[in-house]
Amino acid sequence: MGPPDSPSARPASPGSTKPMIDIVDLHKTFGSTKVLTGINLTVPAGSTCVILGGSGSGKTVLMKHMIGLLKPDTGKVIIDGEDIVPMSVQGLQQVRRSFGMVFQAAALFDSMTVFENVAFPLRQHTSLSEDAIREKVRKRLDLMSLKPEVENRFPADLSGGMRKRVGLARAVVLDPKVVLYDEPTTGLDPITTDSVDEMILTAQKELGVTSVVISHDIASAFNVADQIAFLSKGVIVENGPPEQLRESTQPAVQVFLQTWFGKN
Ligand SMILES: Nc1ncnc2c1ncn2[C@@H]1O[C@H](COP(=O)(O)OP(=O)(O)O)[C@@H](O)[C@H]1O
Ligand SMILES: [Mg+2]
Repeated sequence: MGPPDSPSARPASPGSTKPMIDIVDLHKTFGSTKVLTGINLTVPAGSTCVILGGSGSGKTVLMKHMIGLLKPDTGKVIIDGEDIVPMSVQGLQQVRRSFGMVFQAAALFDSMTVFENVAFPLRQHTSLSEDAIREKVRKRLDLMSLKPEVENRFPADLSGGMRKRVGLARAVVLDPKVVLYDEPTTGLDPITTDSVDEMILTAQKELGVTSVVISHDIASAFNVADQIAFLSKGVIVENGPPEQLRESTQPAVQVFLQTWFGKN
């Protein structure tokens, strides 16, 4: 089996190619472990970048730099035109409001209903009226193809796929400019994986968000990516449209692709 059809049938990302995220020569060491040794990565506004790489290659560390959860030893992290590296905690909090995050575990609050989970960021960060909150939550649940009936259910009563969709509805409820996904399909069955891919594409298309998706699932990467960046030994060794990855002459990429297609 070859990779799925490349997404070239999909129109190129709308709007300009203004970078939303621009990482310049980023280095990060923990103790004596050099994790990132000169990362350069640009993600145009409104596009979806998938970061691929082996386990422990530094994907999550790289993503944490994008929201200032980690500071680099050297390098720039320019978000929407502004370097966030020198920012204070308050400045970073402001920037983080324009981000939505979806983690591997949906990380929903178990004791809250679906409605309250999605309403939570609105209650935390806005002073919207109860009516306005209700309208916004319903819109986002609807966008993620969740029927109003699920509003009063608890996360434990939902399927894995539905929990993911609630997590994504919550991640986009504040109209973020950027949504970061850390392994959103890990541990999911193929059908649920497809539905998560659909949600990522919906958020891009309907809300115009810029997305960064960490994955080690090649099929999913080819489904959603405008651009795939492959991380190996501290640097990005391949970066471009999915076709470019498929044709890569980089040994690390070839081994990764062979391993994947060997077992799938
Ligand atoms: N806070 C930390 N302190 C020390 N080492 C860390 C820390 N976070 C990550 N690392 C190390 O950085 C490397 C990359 O980790 P990570 O980004 O989580 O990999 P992955 O590509 O699987 O997401 C690993 O060797 C990990 O042990
Ligand atoms: Mg990780």
